[in-house]
Amino acid sequence: MIDIYDIHNHLLPGVDDGPQELSEAIKICKIAESQNTKAVIVTPHRKDVNENLSVQIVKDLVLEINQTLKEDKSDIEIKLGMENHIDLALLRDVEEGKALTLNDSGYILVEMPWEGRPPYIEDIIANLLSYGLTPVLAHPERMNVFEEEPKLLFDFVQMGCISQLTASSLYGKFGNNALNNSIDIMKHGLAHVIASDTHMAAGQRCYDMELGFTHAKRIVGLDMATRMCSINPLAVLQNQRI
Ligand SMILES: [Fe+2]
Repeated sequence: MIDIYDIHNHLLPGVDDGPQELSEAIKICKIAESQNTKAVIVTPHRKDVNENLSVQIVKDLVLEINQTLKEDKSDIEIKLGMENHIDLALLRDVEEGKALTLNDSGYILVEMPWEGRPPYIEDIIANLLSYGLTPVLAHPERMNVFEEEPKLLFDFVQMGCISQLTASSLYGKFGNNALNNSIDIMKHGLAHVIASDTHMAAGQRCYDMELGFTHAKRIVGLDMATRMCSINPLAVLQNQRI
């Protein structure tokens, strides 16, 4: 099994719609470790962090989890990031330290609107790029915006963005549309990273990177699957070019 790195995960307890208890967060880390995961970047929603808690609180939570894992003799490491919904305040929040990049790198996880298609999305992406950041587009295979306007994903990747598919989408857990969109996106060379987007230890949104890797291999072969589950997410984590 290859080394796995997960760059989209909601395992921080009591922060967003992820687990509420530390024990479940630790359980998710152990499951990730059992799937040969070396590091996970946790990505709580920016809105939940800033409206209900603070960046300092989530930093402390990451420290606490890493400490607990160390005491348990686990080798997996947890790093901090954020899932940033795209809006007009995003760049300002980056400047003010309220919107976090992935492990303090030049990569920033950006989520498109779930509904509607605001006219400003290209401008925000362009602003992030000219600020020196590389937007990582979260789960385009599950977003209406890209389903209705497939060229938009191509344009964003041309501009310099990378895109992140969800492991569960690759074997139909998010339905046939997400599955078929994932296959299209991968076969057109527009997918760079596979991540788990884990929200719980067991059930619909559990940690399934091993399964994601297996299905990616089946769809695009071992080389590309290894790039998307190991090489590219490690590059993000270490702030290196993809
Ligand atoms: Fe997410």
